[in-house]
Amino acid sequence: MADIKNLKDLQNTEYGLKKIFDEAEDFLPLLGTDYVELYVGNAKQSAHFYKTAFGFQSEAYAGLETGVKDRVSYVLEQDKIRLVLTTPLTNDGVINEHIVEHGDGVKVVALWVEDATKAFEETTKRGAKPYLEPVKEEDENGYVIRSGIYTYGETVHIFVERKNYTGIFLPGYKKWESHYNPASVGLKFIDHMVGNVGWGEMKQWCEFYARVMGFAQIISFTDDDISTDFTALMSKVMSNGNGRIKFPINEPAKGKKKSQIEEYLDFYKGPGVQHIAVATDDIVATVSAMRERGVEFLYVPDEYYDDLLDRVGEIDEDVEVLKRHGILIDRDEEGYLLQIFTKTIVDRPTMFFEVIQRKGAQSFGVGNFKALFEAIEREQANRGTL
Ligand code: FE2
Repeated sequence: MADIKNLKDLQNTEYGLKKIFDEAEDFLPLLGTDYVELYVGNAKQSAHFYKTAFGFQSEAYAGLETGVKDRVSYVLEQDKIRLVLTTPLTNDGVINEHIVEHGDGVKVVALWVEDATKAFEETTKRGAKPYLEPVKEEDENGYVIRSGIYTYGETVHIFVERKNYTGIFLPGYKKWESHYNPASVGLKFIDHMVGNVGWGEMKQWCEFYARVMGFAQIISFTDDDISTDFTALMSKVMSNGNGRIKFPINEPAKGKKKSQIEEYLDFYKGPGVQHIAVATDDIVATVSAMRERGVEFLYVPDEYYDDLLDRVGEIDEDVEVLKRHGILIDRDEEGYLLQIFTKTIVDRPTMFFEVIQRKGAQSFGVGNFKALFEAIEREQANRGTL
């Protein structure tokens, strides 16, 4: 496939946007992200953090009180985003091993499907490693069928079929009633989720998403696009046929100093989810609220804003307000986007969040990569890992 750096290149290639999406064979198909489950050291306290700092709402709970003996799970929601935070109650088992190895991190990227049995059959037939054979779980609200496959590292995709279920989340969960309900900060849905994979492994994982899941590559960045004077990485963006699921895949590249992807791999002990990009339709209000609630964002130097309007043209927002918050802006042929990145939100320098507002642009902010990576390098320098 031609090397495609932005949507204009994409339309100019023999592939063309339509052809690319035709290539994405929708044999699953995926209706959206169903939930993201993190294995964490202390789910009760993590849940408090995501409510307080990120504006998630208490939704459902499973644990000893619901008959689950070996773990607790808190389910939080904000508009279409659903997070599940799970901690084991025992001193052995695979969840413990996951936490010992990786620290807090994303274990499951669950995808909402019409038919979880078919999704399992289609993907394993195409070479996916099985994680969960199709299983029917039921209670008085109906039934859910789930199945799962492995992706990069120890991360898995679970297919969730919930068309015959009216309960709060999944069978086994009860409504989580809490007197502490901080307001939403305006996060709407997951725009994309990025995976970091090992040296030289990007191609193989992009091929995995193409072959096993029927995704198409929509954008590719080489280390020439994504480098500063010191560090580099490479990235390709894979999308499913209806464009609702986008998974950029990064691998480290050689630079004078250590790639941020290599730092991630060192601390996460292998490939995993690097960031979850969540969409808002008012990034200034969302970021203001998150800052007030204690979320730390990467620092962007004032000079970034000096020639901003020359670079991106007219925008609706006040540049001074964007500058005060450190919000980045980039434009492509279809419009522009605003984005900002949190500092890592767990103890190991691994996972973080992006907040994004799209105003027409469907790309990923390539014009911001240099400013972003220089900001990350400052963090790496502080950690002694550059
Ligand atoms: Fe992103």
